[in-house]
Amino acid sequence: MTPIVPLDENVLLKMDYFMPTLSFKDRGAAVLVAHCKSIGVDSVVQDSSGNAGNSVAAYCAKAGIKCEVFVKDGTSPKKIDMIRAHGATCTVVPGSRDHCADVCREKVEHEGVYYANHVYNPFFYEGTKTYIYEVYEQLHRIPANIVVPVGNGTLFLGVLHALEHLLESGCIERMPQIIALQTETCDPILRAAEQGQKEPAKITPQDTIAEGIAIGRPMRGKEILEYVYKYNIRFIHAPEDKILDARKALALKGVYCEHTTAANYAAYLAYCEKYGPTSDCLITMCGAGLKSDH
Ligand SMILES: Cc1ncc(COP(=O)(O)O)c(C=O)c1O
Repeated sequence: MTPIVPLDENVLLKMDYFMPTLSFKDRGAAVLVAHCKSIGVDSVVQDSSGNAGNSVAAYCAKAGIKCEVFVKDGTSPKKIDMIRAHGATCTVVPGSRDHCADVCREKVEHEGVYYANHVYNPFFYEGTKTYIYEVYEQLHRIPANIVVPVGNGTLFLGVLHALEHLLESGCIERMPQIIALQTETCDPILRAAEQGQKEPAKITPQDTIAEGIAIGRPMRGKEILEYVYKYNIRFIHAPEDKILDARKALALKGVYCEHTTAANYAAYLAYCEKYGPTSDCLITMCGAGLKSDH
């Protein structure tokens, strides 16, 4: 279990960077790699903005499974170092994050290696569901507002699957308000949600310091949008020029998170400006600060 700590009277932080590889992706990777092991997979490939690849590399190392991770150039060097430290091959691909995924998928198609991918593989979501189960066990309730970043939506979908499970089981009476965020320069789901579209908007991602959520073509976009309309989920931009301020504000309260994670807090502050003060809000601290220091 990762701790939940109060930031102030309105905000609770779930410290998911307390995981072994310093990001929440361990939740999904632990389950996914256990599945690979159970079906006799001995070699996997994965594409990642860094953290998911880091987690898959670590759990593969523990399980004795060979691993190659594709990342785009410009990925935080610390994440690349960690992937290699676990004995995995880290292949750096020039171009966008989406292109990097295409290069990896080509290898899967042509060489038949197992695609231990966090976006497609359903076992990964069984892991990210534990985020909500833990919150329920720790607080004996679910906070009224939950802030979730959306890149490929692996945490978002895990959160929604688990909340539906709690709802159907009678553990909670209503869905909390989910506050989903994307960056101003890469927001295909936010734009689609604003226009009531069923598919993610076609965009060309521009630079952002929130590398973990810079996904221009989220493969489960349709599924994410179905949840958005079903539960009146609100989307908000993390203002690019406020991310570093948010990181500093968190650090001054003893919480040192990575840039992408500071975007969660920047988006929460933007949400409060738009909708008014928002109390009883849970924000995830997905990745550790040392990962994006460069
Ligand atoms: C720190 C951090 N936050 C958020 C995300 C968003 O991930 P997803 O939308 O796939 O759950 C990532 C993905 O790599 C990440 O590394």
